[in-house]
Amino acid sequence: MNILGIETSCDETAAAVVQDGQIILSNVVASQIDLHAQYGGVVPEVAARSHIEVMLPVVQQALEEAFGADRRPQTVDRQSDANTDYRDQIDGIAVTAGPGLLGSLLIGTLTARTLAEIKNKPLYGINHVEAHVYANFLTVNPSELPDSGLLSTVYGLPTFPLLALIVSGGHSQIVLFNDHLDYEVLGQTRDDAAGEAFDKIAKLLGLGFPGGPAIAEAAKRGDDQAYAFPKAKLGKENLDYSFSGVKTAVLRQAQKLALPMAEKGSDPICIKSSDISKLLDDQVKRDIAASFQKTVVDTLVDRVMVAYERYQPKNVVIAGGVAANQALRAELKRRLPIEITYAPMHLCTDNAAMIASLGYWHAKADRAIDPKLLQADSSLAM
Ligand code: KG4
Ligand code: ZN
Repeated sequence: MNILGIETSCDETAAAVVQDGQIILSNVVASQIDLHAQYGGVVPEVAARSHIEVMLPVVQQALEEAFGADRRPQTVDRQSDANTDYRDQIDGIAVTAGPGLLGSLLIGTLTARTLAEIKNKPLYGINHVEAHVYANFLTVNPSELPDSGLLSTVYGLPTFPLLALIVSGGHSQIVLFNDHLDYEVLGQTRDDAAGEAFDKIAKLLGLGFPGGPAIAEAAKRGDDQAYAFPKAKLGKENLDYSFSGVKTAVLRQAQKLALPMAEKGSDPICIKSSDISKLLDDQVKRDIAASFQKTVVDTLVDRVMVAYERYQPKNVVIAGGVAANQALRAELKRRLPIEITYAPMHLCTDNAAMIASLGYWHAKADRAIDPKLLQADSSLAM
């Protein structure tokens, strides 16, 4: 069964075709990173406009890569996206319904609803956060991998019960999956998501956007013991997260360190966060980045260990953009007694193959939704 996946929840316009929830036939991602980098974060209106511009060409490319141009009828106008004939090859369309930026979600859902209607295909509304876990069910050709790791191709597909740490720019959750579509959210962030904290600290230190990879890179040459930042204590039994405290602690520490370089008589708390990156030297920034990263990683792994002891899952997977973080992978590997699974980098961050993979399980469970009724929901919960 071939599912066309469509993803536009944030700043990537993506389309993919996945066979039987597992085999990637195509996976096209048009990133807007360059567009947003100048603002130091994603600008919702800019994101939505860009999705409109590239949505149909991205779908077109995903279909062509999956099935080849030679399978299309001779009469098709190559410039016309609407004429793409994939009636026979696609069995259903899966689209991110939420959570995410509303303007961005609307472009993807409207596209999918229209295609489902005119091509007469079943439509599946997908939760983006849940779908991140399905990057671990995708099979990729090891020779095409841009990074190495413990991959499903090497260790087999994850088995249930499965404990998932889902950490992205918008979400930080620990979820226990008993089976496909059958899960329990054990804990989630009460304020900032882990990736959001990475992005904000990178902005504070002037390291660039997106912040996760920038912090990880700076941390490589920094001392992770240089500064002791607090780990939020929400109770030993509690599996929720909170990252606002560490974020403020980093700001205060950075202000203190910047004080000698600031105007005479300044109060550290009055040094503007936008001035910090100009006042700190590069090695201090690297040390802050390394210490901050260590605090976040330790906080994430502490809760995973509690959940692991409590539920004794067969597999632990990490998913979402922050799962690309090597320090997080290494620490989980060091502390867990079982192997962890994570997808290659390009499948950890937003893509449509993971949407199509989860769409397959929706199809198997007859969860098709009327294209006229599918709504984008910016705060869709798992
Ligand atoms: O899953 P994703 O692509 O989009 C959302 O659904 O949010 O995650 C993006 C987030 C960003 O906050 C980015 O800074 C973070 O993932 N990220 C990382 C790394 N690569 C991406 N965080 C830490 N370390 C990384 N190597
Ligand atoms: Zn995501």
